[in-house]
Amino acid sequence: MKNFVDKIQMSRITSICAMKTTTKMYLSVILSTLCIVFFQYQLSKASFVTLQRSDSIGGSTSTNNIITSEKNGNELKEPSPMLPPLYIITPTYRRPEQLAEITRLGYTLKHVPNLLWLVIEDAATPSALVTRQLKRIGVPFEHLVAPMPDKFKKRVVKPRGVSNRNRGLTWIRKNATDGVFYFADDDNTYDLEIFDQMRHTKKVSMWPVGLVTKYGLSSPIVRNGSISGFYDGWIGGRKYPVDMAGFAVNVKFFLSRPKAIMPYHAGYEEDKFLRSLSPLNITEIELLASNCTEILTWHTQTKKNPVASPIDMHKYNGTNLVRLRKLIV
Ligand SMILES: *[C@@H]1O[C@H](CO)[C@@H](O)[C@H](O)[C@H]1NC(C)=O
Ligand SMILES: *[C@@H]1O[C@H](CO)[C@@H](O)[C@H](O)[C@H]1NC(C)=O
Ligand SMILES: *[C@@H]1O[C@H](CO)[C@@H](O)[C@H](O)[C@H]1NC(C)=O
Ligand SMILES: *[C@@H]1O[C@H](CO)[C@@H](O)[C@H](O)[C@H]1NC(C)=O
Ligand SMILES: *[C@@H]1O[C@H](CO)[C@@H](O)[C@H](O)[C@H]1NC(C)=O
Repeated sequence: MKNFVDKIQMSRITSICAMKTTTKMYLSVILSTLCIVFFQYQLSKASFVTLQRSDSIGGSTSTNNIITSEKNGNELKEPSPMLPPLYIITPTYRRPEQLAEITRLGYTLKHVPNLLWLVIEDAATPSALVTRQLKRIGVPFEHLVAPMPDKFKKRVVKPRGVSNRNRGLTWIRKNATDGVFYFADDDNTYDLEIFDQMRHTKKVSMWPVGLVTKYGLSSPIVRNGSISGFYDGWIGGRKYPVDMAGFAVNVKFFLSRPKAIMPYHAGYEEDKFLRSLSPLNITEIELLASNCTEILTWHTQTKKNPVASPIDMHKYNGTNLVRLRKLIV
Protein backbone atom coordinates (compact mmCIF):
# COMPACT_ATOMS: atom_id res chain seq x y z
CA MET A 1 0.00 0.00 0.00
CA LYS A 2 2.70 2.36 1.03
CA ASN A 3 4.60 1.29 -1.98
CA PHE A 4 1.57 1.94 -4.11
CA VAL A 5 1.12 5.38 -2.55
CA ASP A 6 4.77 6.02 -3.08
CA LYS A 7 4.42 4.99 -6.66
CA ILE A 8 1.45 7.30 -7.11
CA GLN A 9 3.36 10.08 -5.42
CA MET A 10 6.36 9.30 -7.52
CA SER A 11 4.32 9.41 -10.70
CA ARG A 12 2.69 12.65 -9.52
CA ILE A 13 6.07 14.14 -8.76
CA THR A 14 7.29 12.99 -12.16
CA SER A 15 4.26 14.44 -13.88
CA ILE A 16 4.65 17.67 -11.91
CA CYS A 17 8.27 17.74 -12.99
CA ALA A 18 7.22 16.98 -16.53
CA MET A 19 4.59 19.70 -16.30
CA LYS A 20 7.16 22.10 -14.98
CA THR A 21 9.44 21.28 -17.88
CA THR A 22 6.57 21.78 -20.35
CA THR A 23 5.61 25.04 -18.66
CA LYS A 24 9.22 26.18 -18.83
CA MET A 25 9.29 25.28 -22.51
CA TYR A 26 6.04 27.11 -23.14
CA LEU A 27 7.22 30.07 -21.13
CA SER A 28 10.48 30.34 -23.03
CA VAL A 29 8.65 29.95 -26.36
CA ILE A 30 6.15 32.67 -25.37
CA LEU A 31 8.96 34.87 -24.10
CA SER A 32 11.05 34.58 -27.24
CA THR A 33 7.95 35.12 -29.39
CA LEU A 34 7.21 38.26 -27.40
CA CYS A 35 10.81 39.36 -27.87
CA ILE A 36 10.63 38.83 -31.64
CA VAL A 37 7.25 40.57 -31.89
CA PHE A 38 8.52 43.51 -29.83
CA PHE A 39 11.68 43.78 -31.91
CA GLN A 40 9.73 43.70 -35.17
CA TYR A 41 7.33 46.30 -33.80
CA GLN A 42 10.25 48.56 -32.97
CA LEU A 43 11.67 48.03 -36.46
CA SER A 44 8.38 48.80 -38.18
CA LYS A 45 7.89 51.83 -35.96
CA ALA A 46 11.36 53.08 -36.89
CA SER A 47 10.81 52.63 -40.61
CA PHE A 48 7.39 54.23 -40.31
CA VAL A 49 8.92 57.25 -38.65
CA THR A 50 11.61 57.42 -41.36
CA LEU A 51 8.96 57.15 -44.03
CA GLN A 52 6.86 59.82 -42.39
CA ARG A 53 9.85 62.11 -42.19
CA SER A 54 10.92 61.68 -45.77
CA ASP A 55 7.30 61.99 -46.79
CA SER A 56 7.04 65.36 -45.20
CA ILE A 57 10.46 66.39 -46.48
CA GLY A 58 9.47 65.74 -50.04
CA GLY A 59 5.86 66.45 -49.20
CA SER A 60 3.67 68.59 -51.28
CA THR A 61 2.37 70.81 -48.53
CA SER A 62 4.50 73.48 -47.04
CA THR A 63 2.66 73.15 -43.73
CA ASN A 64 4.19 69.70 -43.34
CA ASN A 65 7.61 71.14 -43.95
CA ILE A 66 7.20 73.80 -41.32
CA ILE A 67 5.94 71.36 -38.72
CA THR A 68 8.68 68.84 -39.45
CA SER A 69 11.45 71.38 -39.40
CA GLU A 70 10.21 72.78 -36.12
CA LYS A 71 10.12 69.31 -34.60
CA ASN A 72 13.44 68.11 -35.94
CA GLY A 73 15.36 71.35 -35.96
CA ASN A 74 18.60 71.02 -37.86
CA GLU A 75 18.05 67.33 -38.61
CA LEU A 76 16.22 68.41 -41.75
CA LYS A 77 19.34 70.02 -43.13
CA GLU A 78 21.10 66.67 -43.39
CA PRO A 79 21.37 65.63 -47.02
CA SER A 80 18.56 63.26 -47.84
CA PRO A 81 19.41 60.69 -50.51
CA MET A 82 15.80 60.82 -51.64
CA LEU A 83 15.79 64.53 -52.49
CA PRO A 84 17.82 66.12 -55.31
CA PRO A 85 19.91 68.99 -53.87
CA LEU A 86 18.73 72.53 -54.43
CA TYR A 87 21.28 75.29 -55.11
CA ILE A 88 19.99 78.77 -54.41
CA ILE A 89 22.05 81.54 -56.05
CA THR A 90 21.50 84.88 -54.35
CA PRO A 91 23.32 87.97 -55.60
CA THR A 92 23.53 90.77 -53.07
CA TYR A 93 25.26 94.13 -52.57
CA ARG A 94 25.79 96.61 -49.78
CA ARG A 95 22.80 98.90 -49.29
CA PRO A 96 20.59 99.96 -46.35
CA GLU A 97 18.16 97.05 -46.66
CA GLN A 98 20.73 94.33 -47.41
CA LEU A 99 20.85 92.62 -44.01
CA ALA A 100 17.07 92.83 -43.61
CA GLU A 101 16.55 91.11 -46.97
CA ILE A 102 19.20 88.44 -46.32
CA THR A 103 17.57 87.71 -42.97
CA ARG A 104 14.08 87.40 -44.41
CA LEU A 105 15.16 85.17 -47.29
CA GLY A 106 17.42 83.11 -45.01
CA TYR A 107 14.65 82.20 -42.63
CA THR A 108 12.45 81.23 -45.57
CA LEU A 109 15.20 78.95 -46.91
CA LYS A 110 15.64 77.45 -43.45
CA HIS A 111 12.41 75.54 -44.00
CA VAL A 112 13.73 73.93 -47.20
CA PRO A 113 15.62 70.61 -46.82
CA ASN A 114 18.77 69.57 -48.71
CA LEU A 115 19.64 73.06 -49.86
CA LEU A 116 22.88 74.97 -50.34
CA TRP A 117 22.66 78.75 -50.37
CA LEU A 118 25.25 80.45 -52.59
CA VAL A 119 25.33 84.06 -51.41
CA ILE A 120 27.46 86.19 -53.69
CA GLU A 121 28.31 89.78 -52.95
CA ASP A 122 29.08 92.42 -55.52
CA ALA A 123 32.12 93.48 -53.50
CA ALA A 124 35.88 93.09 -53.42
CA THR A 125 35.81 91.33 -50.05
CA PRO A 126 33.03 89.52 -48.16
CA SER A 127 31.19 91.68 -45.66
CA ALA A 128 31.70 90.51 -42.08
CA LEU A 129 28.13 91.54 -41.23
CA VAL A 130 26.74 89.34 -44.00
CA THR A 131 28.95 86.42 -42.89
CA ARG A 132 27.79 86.83 -39.30
CA GLN A 133 24.13 86.92 -40.32
CA LEU A 134 24.51 83.85 -42.56
CA LYS A 135 26.05 81.90 -39.68
CA ARG A 136 23.30 83.02 -37.35
CA ILE A 137 20.51 81.96 -39.70
CA GLY A 138 22.03 78.50 -39.93
CA VAL A 139 21.20 77.57 -43.52
CA PRO A 140 24.16 75.75 -45.20
CA PHE A 141 25.86 78.46 -47.27
CA GLU A 142 28.83 79.47 -49.39
CA HIS A 143 29.71 83.15 -49.07
CA LEU A 144 31.44 84.35 -52.24
CA VAL A 145 32.30 87.69 -53.84
CA ALA A 146 32.14 88.79 -57.48
CA PRO A 147 32.59 92.52 -58.07
CA MET A 148 31.03 93.98 -61.19
CA PRO A 149 33.82 94.72 -63.72
CA ASP A 150 34.59 98.46 -63.82
CA LYS A 151 33.60 98.89 -67.47
CA PHE A 152 29.96 98.05 -66.65
CA LYS A 153 29.80 100.42 -63.67
CA LYS A 154 29.86 103.39 -66.06
CA ARG A 155 26.67 102.32 -67.82
CA VAL A 156 23.45 104.25 -67.18
CA VAL A 157 21.54 101.02 -66.55
CA LYS A 158 23.98 98.77 -64.72
CA PRO A 159 23.75 95.01 -65.29
CA ARG A 160 23.41 94.34 -61.57
CA GLY A 161 23.78 90.83 -60.23
CA VAL A 162 25.34 89.42 -63.39
CA SER A 163 28.89 88.97 -62.04
CA ASN A 164 27.38 87.42 -58.88
CA ARG A 165 25.14 84.97 -60.72
CA ASN A 166 27.93 83.92 -63.08
CA ARG A 167 30.12 83.31 -60.03
CA GLY A 168 27.36 81.07 -58.70
CA LEU A 169 27.24 79.25 -62.03
CA THR A 170 31.02 78.76 -61.92
CA TRP A 171 30.66 77.27 -58.44
CA ILE A 172 28.03 74.87 -59.75
CA ARG A 173 30.09 73.85 -62.78
CA LYS A 174 33.00 73.01 -60.51
CA ASN A 175 31.25 71.51 -57.52
CA ALA A 176 27.74 70.27 -58.33
CA THR A 177 26.85 67.06 -60.13
CA ASP A 178 23.08 66.86 -59.85
CA GLY A 179 20.03 68.61 -58.47
CA VAL A 180 18.57 71.93 -59.51
CA PHE A 181 19.60 75.59 -59.23
CA TYR A 182 17.53 78.72 -58.90
CA PHE A 183 18.33 82.44 -58.90
CA ALA A 184 16.66 83.78 -55.78
CA ASP A 185 17.18 87.52 -55.38
CA ASP A 186 17.12 88.73 -51.80
CA ASP A 187 14.26 91.19 -52.38
CA ASN A 188 11.64 88.62 -53.37
CA THR A 189 9.00 86.65 -51.47
CA TYR A 190 8.85 82.87 -51.86
CA ASP A 191 6.10 80.40 -51.00
CA LEU A 192 7.80 77.23 -49.71
CA GLU A 193 5.72 75.18 -52.13
CA ILE A 194 7.75 76.41 -55.10
CA PHE A 195 10.96 74.87 -53.70
CA ASP A 196 9.30 71.45 -53.43
CA GLN A 197 8.17 71.77 -57.04
CA MET A 198 11.31 73.20 -58.67
CA ARG A 199 13.49 70.52 -57.04
CA HIS A 200 12.30 67.96 -59.59
CA THR A 201 13.03 70.07 -62.69
CA LYS A 202 14.40 67.87 -65.51
CA LYS A 203 15.65 70.63 -67.80
CA VAL A 204 14.06 74.05 -67.24
CA SER A 205 10.89 74.79 -65.28
CA MET A 206 8.86 78.00 -65.25
CA TRP A 207 6.06 79.57 -63.21
CA PRO A 208 4.40 82.98 -62.67
CA VAL A 209 5.99 85.79 -60.65
CA GLY A 210 3.86 88.46 -58.99
CA LEU A 211 4.54 92.22 -58.69
CA VAL A 212 6.47 92.45 -61.96
CA THR A 213 6.08 95.45 -64.30
CA LYS A 214 2.89 97.41 -64.82
CA TYR A 215 1.02 94.13 -65.31
CA GLY A 216 1.83 93.12 -61.76
CA LEU A 217 2.63 89.72 -63.16
CA SER A 218 5.02 87.87 -65.44
CA SER A 219 4.07 84.40 -66.62
CA PRO A 220 4.17 81.94 -69.47
CA ILE A 221 0.78 81.91 -71.21
CA VAL A 222 -0.45 78.33 -70.96
CA ARG A 223 -3.06 77.03 -73.33
CA ASN A 224 -4.09 73.39 -73.28
CA GLY A 225 -1.20 72.57 -70.98
CA SER A 226 1.54 74.08 -73.15
CA ILE A 227 3.23 77.48 -73.53
CA SER A 228 1.66 79.67 -76.19
CA GLY A 229 3.48 82.89 -75.32
CA PHE A 230 4.50 85.09 -72.40
CA TYR A 231 2.59 87.68 -70.40
CA ASP A 232 4.92 90.41 -69.18
CA GLY A 233 4.67 94.20 -69.14
CA TRP A 234 7.86 94.41 -71.14
CA ILE A 235 8.51 91.99 -73.98
CA GLY A 236 11.38 93.93 -75.58
CA GLY A 237 11.94 91.42 -78.39
CA ARG A 238 12.85 88.72 -75.91
CA LYS A 239 12.36 85.06 -76.73
CA TYR A 240 11.86 84.33 -73.02
CA PRO A 241 10.29 87.43 -71.45
CA VAL A 242 10.40 86.03 -67.92
CA ASP A 243 11.54 87.25 -64.52
CA MET A 244 14.66 85.94 -62.80
CA ALA A 245 12.46 84.50 -60.04
CA GLY A 246 10.31 82.57 -62.53
CA PHE A 247 12.50 79.65 -63.60
CA ALA A 248 14.80 76.90 -62.33
CA VAL A 249 17.39 74.80 -64.16
CA ASN A 250 18.53 71.21 -63.74
CA VAL A 251 22.24 70.97 -62.86
CA LYS A 252 23.01 68.00 -65.18
CA PHE A 253 21.25 69.77 -68.05
CA PHE A 254 23.25 72.93 -67.32
CA LEU A 255 26.51 70.94 -67.22
CA SER A 256 25.65 69.56 -70.65
CA ARG A 257 25.59 73.16 -71.95
CA PRO A 258 29.21 74.29 -71.39
CA LYS A 259 28.62 77.68 -73.04
CA ALA A 260 25.68 78.67 -70.86
CA ILE A 261 26.38 82.02 -69.19
CA MET A 262 24.57 85.19 -68.16
CA PRO A 263 25.45 88.21 -70.32
CA TYR A 264 26.09 91.76 -69.04
CA HIS A 265 23.00 93.11 -70.79
CA ALA A 266 20.59 94.91 -68.45
CA GLY A 267 17.02 93.78 -69.05
CA TYR A 268 18.06 90.77 -71.11
CA GLU A 269 19.79 88.69 -68.44
CA GLU A 270 17.06 86.05 -68.15
CA ASP A 271 16.39 85.87 -71.88
CA LYS A 272 20.01 85.55 -72.94
CA PHE A 273 20.85 83.12 -70.17
CA LEU A 274 17.93 80.88 -71.17
CA ARG A 275 18.92 81.18 -74.85
CA SER A 276 22.46 80.13 -73.91
CA LEU A 277 20.98 76.82 -72.71
CA SER A 278 20.18 76.00 -76.34
CA PRO A 279 19.22 73.54 -77.68
CA LEU A 280 16.06 73.80 -75.60
CA ASN A 281 12.66 73.34 -77.19
CA ILE A 282 9.98 75.48 -75.59
CA THR A 283 7.79 72.36 -75.40
CA GLU A 284 10.37 70.89 -73.00
CA ILE A 285 9.86 73.63 -70.42
CA GLU A 286 8.12 72.20 -67.37
CA LEU A 287 5.22 74.27 -66.06
CA LEU A 288 4.98 74.50 -62.29
CA ALA A 289 2.51 76.17 -59.91
CA SER A 290 -0.39 74.06 -61.24
CA ASN A 291 0.25 74.79 -64.92
CA CYS A 292 1.12 78.40 -64.03
CA THR A 293 -2.20 79.16 -62.36
CA GLU A 294 -0.78 80.08 -58.98
CA ILE A 295 1.57 82.81 -57.83
CA LEU A 296 4.19 81.33 -55.50
CA THR A 297 6.89 83.98 -55.95
CA TRP A 298 6.76 87.79 -55.88
CA HIS A 299 9.24 90.39 -57.00
CA THR A 300 8.56 92.30 -53.80
CA GLN A 301 11.33 94.90 -54.19
CA THR A 302 11.65 96.48 -50.79
CA LYS A 303 11.26 100.23 -51.13
CA LYS A 304 14.60 101.89 -51.54
CA ASN A 305 15.67 103.89 -48.51
CA PRO A 306 17.93 106.92 -48.48
CA VAL A 307 21.32 106.40 -46.96
CA ALA A 308 21.07 107.16 -43.23
CA SER A 309 22.26 110.52 -41.87
CA PRO A 310 25.59 110.23 -40.09
CA ILE A 311 25.44 109.75 -36.33
CA ASP A 312 27.14 112.52 -34.33
CA MET A 313 29.73 110.39 -32.65
CA HIS A 314 30.85 113.20 -30.39
CA LYS A 315 27.36 113.67 -28.97
CA TYR A 316 26.60 109.97 -28.64
CA ASN A 317 30.00 108.66 -27.66
CA GLY A 318 29.74 106.05 -24.92
CA THR A 319 26.19 105.04 -25.91
CA ASN A 320 24.77 102.05 -27.76
CA LEU A 321 24.74 104.17 -30.93
CA VAL A 322 28.46 103.60 -31.38
CA ARG A 323 27.78 99.95 -32.12
CA LEU A 324 24.49 100.49 -33.91
CA ARG A 325 26.22 102.82 -36.34
CA LYS A 326 28.20 99.87 -37.68
CA LEU A 327 24.99 98.04 -38.60
CA ILE A 328 23.44 100.66 -40.88
CA VAL A 329 24.21 102.02 -44.33
C1 LIG B 1 34.09 74.57 -55.05
O1 LIG B 1 33.83 74.37 -53.68
C2 LIG B 1 34.92 74.65 -52.82
C3 LIG B 1 34.53 74.26 -51.44
O2 LIG B 1 33.41 74.92 -51.01
C4 LIG B 1 35.29 76.13 -52.94
O3 LIG B 1 36.38 76.42 -52.11
C5 LIG B 1 35.62 76.45 -54.36
O4 LIG B 1 35.84 77.83 -54.51
C6 LIG B 1 34.47 76.02 -55.29
N1 LIG B 1 34.88 76.20 -56.67
C7 LIG B 1 34.43 77.21 -57.41
C8 LIG B 1 34.94 77.26 -58.81
O5 LIG B 1 33.65 78.05 -57.00
C1 LIG C 1 -6.59 71.46 -76.89
O1 LIG C 1 -6.15 70.15 -77.15
C2 LIG C 1 -7.15 69.30 -77.61
C3 LIG C 1 -6.59 67.91 -77.77
O2 LIG C 1 -5.30 67.79 -77.28
C4 LIG C 1 -7.71 69.83 -78.92
O3 LIG C 1 -8.77 69.01 -79.34
C5 LIG C 1 -8.21 71.25 -78.72
O4 LIG C 1 -8.61 71.79 -79.99
C6 LIG C 1 -7.17 72.11 -78.13
N1 LIG C 1 -7.71 73.43 -77.85
C7 LIG C 1 -7.13 74.56 -78.20
C8 LIG C 1 -7.84 75.82 -77.83
O5 LIG C 1 -6.06 74.58 -78.79
C1 LIG D 1 -1.43 70.60 -66.62
O1 LIG D 1 -2.09 70.50 -67.85
C2 LIG D 1 -1.95 69.24 -68.49
C3 LIG D 1 -2.59 69.30 -69.85
O2 LIG D 1 -3.83 69.95 -69.80
C4 LIG D 1 -2.57 68.16 -67.59
O3 LIG D 1 -2.38 66.90 -68.17
C5 LIG D 1 -1.90 68.19 -66.23
O4 LIG D 1 -2.53 67.29 -65.38
C6 LIG D 1 -1.95 69.57 -65.64
N1 LIG D 1 -1.16 69.59 -64.44
C7 LIG D 1 -1.56 70.17 -63.31
C8 LIG D 1 -0.65 70.07 -62.15
O5 LIG D 1 -2.63 70.76 -63.21
C1 LIG E 1 9.82 71.41 -80.56
O1 LIG E 1 9.21 70.17 -80.30
C2 LIG E 1 7.96 70.03 -80.95
C3 LIG E 1 7.30 68.76 -80.43
O2 LIG E 1 8.24 67.79 -80.13
C4 LIG E 1 8.19 70.02 -82.46
O3 LIG E 1 6.96 69.90 -83.14
C5 LIG E 1 8.85 71.32 -82.86
O4 LIG E 1 9.19 71.33 -84.22
C6 LIG E 1 10.12 71.58 -82.03
N1 LIG E 1 10.60 72.90 -82.31
C7 LIG E 1 11.86 73.16 -82.63
C8 LIG E 1 12.22 74.58 -82.84
O5 LIG E 1 12.70 72.26 -82.70
C1 LIG F 1 34.82 108.33 -27.58
O1 LIG F 1 35.26 108.00 -26.29
C2 LIG F 1 36.45 107.26 -26.26
C3 LIG F 1 36.77 106.92 -24.82
O2 LIG F 1 35.66 106.43 -24.16
C4 LIG F 1 37.56 108.08 -26.89
O3 LIG F 1 38.73 107.32 -26.95
C5 LIG F 1 37.16 108.48 -28.28
O4 LIG F 1 38.13 109.36 -28.84
C6 LIG F 1 35.83 109.20 -28.29
N1 LIG F 1 35.41 109.49 -29.66
C7 LIG F 1 34.86 110.63 -30.04
C8 LIG F 1 34.51 110.75 -31.50
O5 LIG F 1 34.63 111.53 -29.30
